[in-house]
Amino acid sequence: MRLSPAFIALFVGCLSAGASFLLQEICSKYLLVTLPEVLFLTTQGLVAALLARALKLAFWWQWILFIFPLAIWLALKLDLTPGFLFGGFLLFVLMYWSVFLTQVPYYPSGQGACDVVAKLIDHNKQLKILEIGSGLGGFSTQLAKIHPKSSYLGIEIAPLPFLISLLRSKYQRSKVSFRLGNYKKVDFADFDLVFAYLSPAAMPKLYEQCKAQMKSGSMLVSHEFIVPGVKPSNILQSDHDSKVSYLYRIA
Ligand SMILES: C[S@@+](CC[C@H](N)C(=O)[O-])C[C@H]1O[C@@H](n2cnc3c(N)ncnc32)[C@H](O)[C@@H]1O
Repeated sequence: MRLSPAFIALFVGCLSAGASFLLQEICSKYLLVTLPEVLFLTTQGLVAALLARALKLAFWWQWILFIFPLAIWLALKLDLTPGFLFGGFLLFVLMYWSVFLTQVPYYPSGQGACDVVAKLIDHNKQLKILEIGSGLGGFSTQLAKIHPKSSYLGIEIAPLPFLISLLRSKYQRSKVSFRLGNYKKVDFADFDLVFAYLSPAAMPKLYEQCKAQMKSGSMLVSHEFIVPGVKPSNILQSDHDSKVSYLYRIA
């Protein structure tokens, strides 16, 4: 069983805290010196980052683990009220809901992805388009303006982005429907095009789901991330940025 990176990071954090407390004890007992707070916490962060590297956690975990003890220290020094900290925590929970399980945080795909997908769609056809992990709803609402004949559904697992996409769609009188949920529980059979901007970790299972559920000739477009071991039918390059999207036609 492969542990989630968040659990490994938690383990690394606890281990490094234990190791640096031990170091502090040794220094004060045998060398009769007390490490300055910043040095003590930097050591703790460094130990955590090195452990994370040894356990092959992604580079951003190494940075998070390095900065974490110093960030806590700074927050304590700033004497922030518990309400402020709890508010921040709540905001993060609502925004990055279940990232520790899905390994897919919110990050917008941008204009480039929308442009390349727009070029795939015949203006006179009424396609059914599904955006899995629709975030704040920018991609689908933008695409719906270019191709108003098609129908759109966005599914998002995190409550705050979902709520923002819903309000945005109502405010803009967009024809896109947004739903709160897990795309793994959605049947793709009805859709002609599925757009995904997820993560490398999600791609193999996503492709299996597409192959099992989508009809022949329908399309999966994955922004930035390939399906390992599967040759894309086309690589879509935008004029806006250097990022590409991969088109997979379901056989
Ligand atoms: C990289 S963002 C992309 C946002 C949007 N599609 C765009 O292109 O701007 C990925 C989004 O997928 C959502 N997500 C991750 N796993 C999901 C799942 N299993 N079901 C639904 N949404 C998911 C995340 O919460 C996040 O908002």
